[in-house]
Amino acid sequence: MKKISLLGATGSIGLQTVDVVQAHPDHFQFVAISLGRNINEARKIINACSPKLVSVMSKEDSEMLKAEFPSIRFLYGEEGLVEVATHPDADILVNAVLGSVGLVPTLEAIKIKKTIAIANKETLVTAGHIVMEAAKEHEVDILPVDSEHSAIFQSIQGQDESAIDRLILTASGGSFRDRTREELKDVTVQEALHHPNWSMGAKITIDSATMMNKGLEVIEAHWLFGLPYEKIEVLLHKESIIHSMVEFSDTSVIAQLGTPDMRIPIQYALTYPKRMNLPHTPRLSLADVGQLHFTKMDMQRFRCLAFAFEAGKKGGTMPTVLNAANEEAVQAFLNGHITFLEIEDVIEKAMMEHNVIQNPCLSTIKEVDLEARKFVKILSRVN
Ligand SMILES: NC(=O)c1ccc[n+]([C@@H]2O[C@H](COP(=O)([O-])OP(=O)(O)OC[C@H]3O[C@@H](n4cnc5c(N)ncnc54)[C@H](OP(=O)(O)O)[C@@H]3O)[C@@H](O)[C@H]2O)c1
Repeated sequence: MKKISLLGATGSIGLQTVDVVQAHPDHFQFVAISLGRNINEARKIINACSPKLVSVMSKEDSEMLKAEFPSIRFLYGEEGLVEVATHPDADILVNAVLGSVGLVPTLEAIKIKKTIAIANKETLVTAGHIVMEAAKEHEVDILPVDSEHSAIFQSIQGQDESAIDRLILTASGGSFRDRTREELKDVTVQEALHHPNWSMGAKITIDSATMMNKGLEVIEAHWLFGLPYEKIEVLLHKESIIHSMVEFSDTSVIAQLGTPDMRIPIQYALTYPKRMNLPHTPRLSLADVGQLHFTKMDMQRFRCLAFAFEAGKKGGTMPTVLNAANEEAVQAFLNGHITFLEIEDVIEKAMMEHNVIQNPCLSTIKEVDLEARKFVKILSRVN
């Protein structure tokens, strides 16, 4: 029985993690979960999974739930996230919270040697050097949940890692893959939220449409697999069947394929190095798919991808600025303060404004994150 703590239980990845756990009640059990404000979904999860500890965003919600579930411990805020992440009974932390709020709980969990299954890419983007150093120091495995990184991870099992020449991350292209920049001027939030292949949370769906999601994944891959940015490429692959590939020095390319279903990489992170059956997930039929398409990535069209490579190569605090500016810009777009293309503009301005600090400590990361958020809020006319 593997005991799990889960950050972000009510989100898209969180709910699919609940699905995986419920499909294997003899193998997995939740001990602690966190969520934000979706109390109705929380009630369902609590009834189905009986965690010992639940953390929510506000004190009021924690008190209300405590009255309903007196045998469960309830906490709230950042302290609650840390308590869930470090629950003494948990063997593994699944971090599926949204945004860089996941950083401190992840670091605290690493310090007490919890295995980390990481979906929360913003944590690695904003402070990858600190997370990976801590993982090395405490001999903790960081297992990828993102489908691209899980694909790479699966492709390098049993391989000579010193012979890796190139990581090739595939990108579906998001909601606006086939539109020109001119056609992006007046797109609505509703249009941007319609992803052709994946059903995901709102922020990552917008990130997919701007291609920032792939940019964040490039930085995530840099930290998880320790390769320079020159050895990481992105390839447009609209069917999302090949989840990513690895090229070795003898020119062999190993890829992982599957239907676009996040329960596959979530479960692999929970069962690694073993595999288990995954009920209700359709098997891949390449005969039915028929054709797979690949296109070279156009960096002029997808400017956010270019920003991410630039931020990653500059290093230091620049990825923190990229991530914080993006989180705020996406929120401003979702709330109707800025247009779709202005997301790129405000991120570019935030990066231009910033003087990079190399090898930043955690408190510097937090300060830079706050500054970038303030700057973007002013630019986005958010009060
Ligand atoms: N969705 C995917 O298919 C996918 C694939 C690969 C990687 N990822 C990554 O996984 C992470 C989660 O994505 P998602 O799509 O699952 O997001 P999501 O559906 O928006 O869910 C986010 C979760 O985090 C909680 N949350 C948000 N802000 C919080 C805060 N400040 N404090 C505490 N809890 C907070 C939400 O709570 P409430 O909803 O209760 O407010 C929810 O449980 C992201 O980093 C994303 O890039 C997602």
